[in-house]
Amino acid sequence: MDDIRSDPQLDFHRRLAEQDLAALWVARRGVDLSKPRSDAQPKAWLYDDVRPRLMEAGDLVRAEDAFRRVIVLENPAYAGEMRATNTLYAGLQLVLPGEIAPCHRHSQTAVRFVIEGEGAYTSVDGERTRLHPGDFVVTPAWSWHDHGNQGNEPVVWLDGLDTPLVGFLDTAFRETYAELTHPVLRPEDDAQARYGANMLPVGHVPQRQASAVMNYSYKSSRAALAQLAPTATLDPADGLRLRYSDPATGGWPSPTMGGFLQHLPRGFSGAEARMTDSTIYVCVEGRGRTIVNGTSFEWGSHDVVVVPGWLPYRHEATDDAILFSLSDRPAQQALGLWREDKGR
Ligand SMILES: [Fe+2]
Repeated sequence: MDDIRSDPQLDFHRRLAEQDLAALWVARRGVDLSKPRSDAQPKAWLYDDVRPRLMEAGDLVRAEDAFRRVIVLENPAYAGEMRATNTLYAGLQLVLPGEIAPCHRHSQTAVRFVIEGEGAYTSVDGERTRLHPGDFVVTPAWSWHDHGNQGNEPVVWLDGLDTPLVGFLDTAFRETYAELTHPVLRPEDDAQARYGANMLPVGHVPQRQASAVMNYSYKSSRAALAQLAPTATLDPADGLRLRYSDPATGGWPSPTMGGFLQHLPRGFSGAEARMTDSTIYVCVEGRGRTIVNGTSFEWGSHDVVVVPGWLPYRHEATDDAILFSLSDRPAQQALGLWREDKGR
């Protein structure tokens, strides 16, 4: 029996398709539209597993040949797509002693979270800042940047970029600088002195949608958590969680990505929550686990866990723990889309 003759709707759909048209009532049939359902999977990468591969890459590939020697953390749902979540790219970058990662710029915003090693710097538009483990650094969209390791040990940091989001919007531009490094135009940590000491230059007007400071040092962020921890009222789901802010505006450090640092006291057993932003966690100190949609991911120092948007998660800390995290919350909030559900 001929289907098309027996079902006039099928013939209708075929003729629509020939004209690049489709029937909405068919496309939505059986699809739950009541809530988001990310394709991204929850996922953890243990640093003990990834670090040997990173060091292997250090032997195999020279920094100037690789341009950036990065092992990308790819969500299994997006194999080959360089995506840790639906909107975020994440990778672990290795810069060996004496190496320089050449200068370039792109319309993607980048953030760095330093994992291990002393002696490296990053340069943004001609200003350098020294990197120490736990530092959170912002490289604004379309700013020239290069990195170098002037010390004598390997330096590793997590790169977080909004590459999938920028790609989705078809707004990706990129340019390589004519020289290997950008000339130094200002003293080291100039921005920190101007904007990062709870003061601002009189008459300061933000010139771009990015934080006035480039390096949020772990020393000061960690000290803030330590000072607050003994008397803080803990969020039932997230413990003591602070966000990095632009000191000139109070807003996020970038228009697309936000950073957080949180303390979970030993024995913390968090309430279940869910949020629409997709989040990449890095354990800085301590041990614990994050249960995402029923699957438990154990973490210790330098391990990475991805929690896709709107999947229920809860944290447990077996030791006093410090977690860094990165998410696309600023982009979602700017578009009026962000939601959370903390069951209250
Ligand atoms: Fe870059």
